[in-house]
Amino acid sequence: MRKIYVFDTTLRDGEQSPGVNLNTREKLEIAYQLEKLGIDRMEAGFPAASPGDLAAVNAVAKAVKNVTVIGLSRSKEHDIDAVREALIGAQDPCIHIFLATSPIHRKHKLKMEKHEVLETAQSALRYAKKYFSKIEFSLEDAGRTELDFMVEMVSMAVGEGVKVVNIPDTVGYLNPSEYGAIFRHLKENVPDIEKVQLSAHCHNDLGMATANTLAAIQNGADQIEGTINGIGERAGNTAIEEIAMALETRQEFFGAKTSLNLSEISRTSRLVSKLTGMVVPGNKAIVGANAFAHESGIHQDGMLKEKTTYEIMTPETIGLKESKLVLGKHSGRHAFREKLLDMGYELDEQELNQAFARFKELADKKKEVSDDDIMALVEEKLVDTPEVYKLETIYVTYGNRSVPTAKVRIIKGQEQGLEEEAEGNGSVDAIYNAVDKATGEEVTLSDYSIKSVSRGKDAQGEVHVVLTQNDVSAQGRGLSTDILEASARAYVDALNQLIEKRKTFSKRERASL
Ligand code: KIV
Ligand code: ZN
Repeated sequence: MRKIYVFDTTLRDGEQSPGVNLNTREKLEIAYQLEKLGIDRMEAGFPAASPGDLAAVNAVAKAVKNVTVIGLSRSKEHDIDAVREALIGAQDPCIHIFLATSPIHRKHKLKMEKHEVLETAQSALRYAKKYFSKIEFSLEDAGRTELDFMVEMVSMAVGEGVKVVNIPDTVGYLNPSEYGAIFRHLKENVPDIEKVQLSAHCHNDLGMATANTLAAIQNGADQIEGTINGIGERAGNTAIEEIAMALETRQEFFGAKTSLNLSEISRTSRLVSKLTGMVVPGNKAIVGANAFAHESGIHQDGMLKEKTTYEIMTPETIGLKESKLVLGKHSGRHAFREKLLDMGYELDEQELNQAFARFKELADKKKEVSDDDIMALVEEKLVDTPEVYKLETIYVTYGNRSVPTAKVRIIKGQEQGLEEEAEGNGSVDAIYNAVDKATGEEVTLSDYSIKSVSRGKDAQGEVHVVLTQNDVSAQGRGLSTDILEASARAYVDALNQLIEKRKTFSKRERASL
């Protein structure tokens, strides 16, 4: 079996998804989980983009140990220097330098002739070589670049000693046969091509990212780039879980394999969805809620007779297993711990106590606490935001013929409770107006979404909001069996995140004076 290296860019290209804004703690949480998933290379961010990005990449670089950590850089010395700073402390650092090569980008974006593109990239690589032993070079918009110019650019990169050359279909324009042919052409026409690994990086604008990536593998790609759940700019990137499971399920066909721990796929997908606020559609391949559900009578009958009639892979492979232990309000700490272990959560004593207290609260409200409920309550507190504001109580009056009103009591640090009442055009609006009055914060609600974490009328609702204040955005989450309470919690959580971001900015401003 040929090994296919997995380059995960959830924290960089994935974070470029509209509305997604991960803070350092959230990036770290995802990075630890990606390490468990067993990816080979992790693109942690674009350090030159902002001081916050640089700090987050540095935190990831210092935290993960068994993965190559990568920082993205334009072909500019300033960007390369930012990656150098960001990767201090990384066990296995790598810089990813890119420059656009297609005629459209050369003419309109770069305003450069071919020879200038080549020289700019070459001098960036020469500068980077002084500081990095591992370099990946990307030909941005390679998918729309002339084949002979691509050969020239790749030959130059090979000559400069880069380790990986990436061929992105930046705008998701190609078909599998076209994309595969590029890899074949490069293998056949670039001298010393065996000295580098070729990498596939696809976008999903025409829904072909997975097919194109698999075509690249069939034509000699050594590495695939993608994100968890396929998140990313516009229609997203190649979904890593789809490639891993396609190679696993069709081993004889592809003769290639990743070294991912497949049983971590489901957990990684849930975490990325929760922290980015990007809900995974029910019918999404591999990780959608319906990916292993069989609804029609004919299919159910087939499944009961012989699973392989309609199941080409098992839910257990990606870490989905229905635990037999059902918990309710009489369940004790021991049963709860066993259940968590069964579900793959190893919490320390303090985390276990906190989770158990939240479980007891929930069990008082719900007769049967499902696996999904437990996952939600354990994962809710994986990322701890310092709490400036804490929601204490909330009362809402609603009638379809009256103006909704809400009264909230919020605790700020050690101070006394802040109590305010407000009206709104709906219950959630009234709550948010009351919180604004109590905290005195002026924010814009840029996004709000709600989903049920389990089934049934007593299911918990999970709310995700994005708040913006003076060009700074922060997201927050709230979980409760009551969607108004979940909405309030998400809003207060986002306010706390915003305050945390504000502090980081003002510290940096002070430092630069
Ligand atoms: O899609 C793309 O071209 C990219 C490059 C920065 C590699 O993400
Ligand atoms: Zn990309």
